Amino acid sequence: MSSKQIVVSGIRPTGMLHLGNYMGAVKNFISMQNEHPCFFFIADYHSLTTHPNPKDLHNSVKQVLAEYLACGLDPEKCTLYIQSDLPQIPELYLLLNMHAYKGELERVSSFKEKVRTQPDNINAGLLTYPVLMAADIIIHRAHLVPVGKDQEQHLEMARTFGNRFNRMYDIELFPEPQAFNYGGELVKIPGLQGGGKMSKSDGENNVINLIDSPNVLRKKISKAVSDVTPTEANSVPSQPVQNLFDLLKVASTKETLDFYVDAYANCNIRYGDLKKQLAEDMVTFLTPIREKISDILANEEYLGKVAKLGAEKAKESADATLKEARSAIGFRKFY
Ligand code: TYM
Repeated sequence: MSSKQIVVSGIRPTGMLHLGNYMGAVKNFISMQNEHPCFFFIADYHSLTTHPNPKDLHNSVKQVLAEYLACGLDPEKCTLYIQSDLPQIPELYLLLNMHAYKGELERVSSFKEKVRTQPDNINAGLLTYPVLMAADIIIHRAHLVPVGKDQEQHLEMARTFGNRFNRMYDIELFPEPQAFNYGGELVKIPGLQGGGKMSKSDGENNVINLIDSPNVLRKKISKAVSDVTPTEANSVPSQPVQNLFDLLKVASTKETLDFYVDAYANCNIRYGDLKKQLAEDMVTFLTPIREKISDILANEEYLGKVAKLGAEKAKESADATLKEARSAIGFRKFY
């Protein structure tokens, strides 16, 4: 992998970061900042599709900024910024929208899901969400985009819009961005309620937040959905049981995981013991991060400095790309 490959990724400020965000995205960010030019941001424009109230929006952005830093993002190594600090992004979004078609946008799975789950708020921002995301990525001419599995289709759209622009204006401006995870496969961390994915939309009890206190972690994990003990040796675990194994993979040792996988295969697994062990391992895993988050959140001056430095660095890169895009389209100054 060439060290010149540019990395871009972001997270919506929809509250506190959870273990899915950490394992699918932030963990990769931390390693990648040592090897590549990296742009990591807080996608506050994207969160507007659900109409947050202004005070919550500001607090959520501040929370994610502090959490990024507590997890180990270093504003000297990477460019760490807030999406709405860059006017170049909505401008590129506007330009890309002229070549984004209603039919292809309506076929995007995340849009179809929103149509199902929030029929009273199917706004144009939701429909064009993948265009804004493409603008985020290609504004820095990214090659690699560390994301979880749920973002795969959005990455495909980013490639489509970038390629289409290149073709329309006969220019080699945008490289093809690829979804990335160390280890190859994109990650999907399951939730605690037995479903497929850890996500806030399935309720607070489904997610493990990075700032959950030990007691909250113990309580949530003790309520995690499990299953009956298998009656046949070596049966395939049901989804809720597989989820518990997947969570053990994150926080526990290989010995612990193997112990419970074997116990399941031998039909003598005790889910209560598994959950107690998982809770303690999760407490150990998350405590150092939680403590750092509260220290950083208290330091408004530092957060302000980080956001300002990031905005300056990101604007420089975004400006250079936008100038070329405008020129390719045919915009010329009359004065
Ligand atoms: P968002 O804010 O929903 O999630 C942020 C990141 O966390 C990953 N993630 C997960 N990974 C594994 N298992 C899970 N259960 C899990 N839940 C979330 C997501 O895959 C993502 O990497 N549209 C994006 C934000 C965005 C963006 C971008 C990302 C806007 N512009 C440009 C990359 C590049 C989103 O809503 O992610």
